[in-house]
Amino acid sequence: MRQSLNQSVVDCYSFKSHISFKTNPQFCLTFFSALKDLLNQTMTSFTITTVPTKPFEGQKPGTSGLRKPVKTFIQKDYSENFIQAILDAAQDKTKLVIGGDGRYHNKTVVQTIVQMCAANNVKHVIVGQNGILSTPAVSAVIRKRQTNGGIILTASHNPGGPNGDFGIKFNTSNGGPAPESVTNHIYELSKDLTQYKIVNELTVDVLTLGVQTYNISGNVFTVEIIDSVEDYLGLMREIFDFNTIKSYLSSGSLKILIDAMNGVMGPYVKRILIEELGAPTDSAVRCESLEDFGGHHPDPNLTYAADLVKQLESGVYGFGAAFDGDGDRNMILGKNAFFVTPSDSLAVLADNLDCIPYFKIGGVKGFARSMPTAGAVDLVAKKINKEIFETPTGWKFFGNLMDAQKCSLCGEESFGTGSDHIREKDGLWAVLAWLSVLANTKISVEELLINHWNKYGRNFFTRYDYENCEANPCNEMMTQLETLLSQTDFVGNTFKSGEKEYKVLIADDFSYKDPIDGSLTTKQGIRIIFSDGSRIIFRLSGTGSQGATIRLYVDCYESDSSKFRTDAQQVLRPLIDIALQISKLKEFTGRDAPTVIT
Ligand code: G1P
Ligand code: ZN
Repeated sequence: MRQSLNQSVVDCYSFKSHISFKTNPQFCLTFFSALKDLLNQTMTSFTITTVPTKPFEGQKPGTSGLRKPVKTFIQKDYSENFIQAILDAAQDKTKLVIGGDGRYHNKTVVQTIVQMCAANNVKHVIVGQNGILSTPAVSAVIRKRQTNGGIILTASHNPGGPNGDFGIKFNTSNGGPAPESVTNHIYELSKDLTQYKIVNELTVDVLTLGVQTYNISGNVFTVEIIDSVEDYLGLMREIFDFNTIKSYLSSGSLKILIDAMNGVMGPYVKRILIEELGAPTDSAVRCESLEDFGGHHPDPNLTYAADLVKQLESGVYGFGAAFDGDGDRNMILGKNAFFVTPSDSLAVLADNLDCIPYFKIGGVKGFARSMPTAGAVDLVAKKINKEIFETPTGWKFFGNLMDAQKCSLCGEESFGTGSDHIREKDGLWAVLAWLSVLANTKISVEELLINHWNKYGRNFFTRYDYENCEANPCNEMMTQLETLLSQTDFVGNTFKSGEKEYKVLIADDFSYKDPIDGSLTTKQGIRIIFSDGSRIIFRLSGTGSQGATIRLYVDCYESDSSKFRTDAQQVLRPLIDIALQISKLKEFTGRDAPTVIT
């Protein structure tokens, strides 16, 4: 009886039942009232508790969700308040996806979200097994299963563990991070919360795949536990030619090494790259997902993925890649640790999209990059006559463009690359895209880049991160820069460093008017653009959980092929010196050197 009741509920609520209220209202009314009676007779009814609470300060989502130290999140009612604000802000919340990167506190909050969804009239939650879903997988599941959105538990590339960070992020029904109108609404609601609703006694089995149904005060609540990898794998199979990648990997022409950095990507790498695509088992390392990422900083850059860089330096491998904690970032390396900047990675993929069936069949719309990302992709767009958009930092700004069919491929200098197959950046997608290009062109990563520069010229790029600075001096530095830039004679000034001289052409604080919904986003980074196109950009990070992080971005363009192989730090040194001179960064922060150089 219980089983068949469960089945009927699932048929009617979750999946496409052929009988709708519109076509047969009488049947539906009779059916649901009979169902309710049956439910009350056969299943324990859970009761909803309303818990009085007080607002917490600062529950304002940043560049990508609310990120704070675990210690902040484990305070009584802290997570509950924010989840209530999300559920109150969500216009339609019949069906939601829940999953996270498996970091410390993930398991607890998954249960809390399920308990609160049950109490807040959500009808159906889809949960990754054991609470695990990579960020791109959540986006894929939302889209495939047409849910009203999802809640992702991650602090992305921030360290985990009891002394690390935790985060909660809301994605909407297009699968992408909620736009600022929604996150601002969540924040406003969080400031006035007086209560939240929860079903305390409900504990769901998140390990067993399948559907569970519960009676919540007489209403049916469905919990569906899904395999963490399956939906995402299905999507990758539709996009890429697995046979081509598989035969290239098995031909022995390319030895790869993938570093999952003990984040969420371990199971995805093992299932997709090793089991499906036949890469040897020793071609992936750190595939065990750990709550504290093994004590490491799960950020795939030259500093925090130094082990991978070292391995690639040996010359044994022709391709290396690493991911961040939640699997949306990627770093690409070639033989001898040849580093592909994310700005170049985007441009090379843009120029080779015909190696990927998804684009070959579906065509290429336009491209987009975040403002601090170097303009290499712009040159490809120009050549193949496609539109290019420059957006503020943060993946959420790409969503509208993709929904409006204006953008097929986009990226950020912060190791983010992705396409309109989902609405998040996608680390493993980027690796499969690179493997597709390598399998089709049959040349090395370095040759591919050299060919690209010969065709388009080279955009040199570097980013300096000054992490965990004191907040006040950083804010003062930014204010001082704004004042300087607003002086009428700043544009036209020349700055010297060694032999080099640069004349200021544009100086502003970047703002963006979304071409689809017209929304305006201001103060997105101070830009100083020189007459030769070189740029210096300053931003304060919006993802850090304590203090402040200054990001300094510097790039320039070079068309002289004799200079393509010069070290980027050497080429950009004069611009970096000028940036430090103009900003007085050292005087404000006391920092002699950045924490991370990319
Ligand atoms: C950083 C990156 C940005 C990225 C975000 C989320 O944000 O710079 O490109 O979208 O992480 O991964 P920031 O800390 O600079 O605000
Ligand atoms: Zn991430």
